[in-house]
Amino acid sequence: MISIAVAQTAPAFLDAGANHSGAIDLIGEVDADLYLFPELYLSGYAFSTEDEVRRCALRPDNPIFDQLKRLSSERGIAVCGGYVEASGGALYNSAFLIGNGQILSNYRKTHLFFREKEFFTPGDSGFQVVEYLGVRFGMMICFDWIFPEAARSLALRGAQVILHPANLVLPYCQRAMFARAVENRVFVATANRVGTESNAFGDELTFTGRSQLVTPGGEYVLTFDDGEVAIRSVEIDPAAAAEKQLNPYNDVLGDRRPGMYL
Ligand code: ACM
Repeated sequence: MISIAVAQTAPAFLDAGANHSGAIDLIGEVDADLYLFPELYLSGYAFSTEDEVRRCALRPDNPIFDQLKRLSSERGIAVCGGYVEASGGALYNSAFLIGNGQILSNYRKTHLFFREKEFFTPGDSGFQVVEYLGVRFGMMICFDWIFPEAARSLALRGAQVILHPANLVLPYCQRAMFARAVENRVFVATANRVGTESNAFGDELTFTGRSQLVTPGGEYVLTFDDGEVAIRSVEIDPAAAAEKQLNPYNDVLGDRRPGMYL
């Protein structure tokens, strides 16, 4: 068994210090083995200029990561969340998984959404699986949800739990993740944000909240409403994701026929 806490937040735009300390406070509110935060939870989302993005970009030696690494060792926890990653001259919309005092995995968003294409480089990390506390975790970020190949790639690589930091603005994802969970028979945890942000392009983006955790059997074991800032945890049995057999005849991964697909 492993307990996962999902945090639904409302980041202060461009204020990484305030967002980081708010996240630390939320971590103090509930006990869990792993804490999941939204996409870009340290910076906010609706950038107008590259300069804004660069102002909140982090490199691996950032003190925020040092503090999270220390916390992960002291408390025996893991933390996953989205941030602006600076690497060389490029900016990525990334997510980290920190545990055991180190960055266990770093994922760069594969499918950029809307104005993200103005500022970010499409991710090149691919869909990786990493083991922590004997459980295999994979990450995808927000709009990756509309490409079923993302969750399928993670499932084929053995992920039992998909961690999905998000800043959702379309109304579909929370229902689509039900399908991602049952078609791959994996757990899918989505940490989404709330609030509204505007940018100089004239966009007004309202984030949909309704963070959730769905089981391989399609049960919503954690749900949030569309406006709350909150953290809640649930205990799950990752072994439930090992059983891909639906009935004596059908295995959701074993029955695939890749030769029939484009
Ligand atoms: C999104 O990918 N942030 C919608």
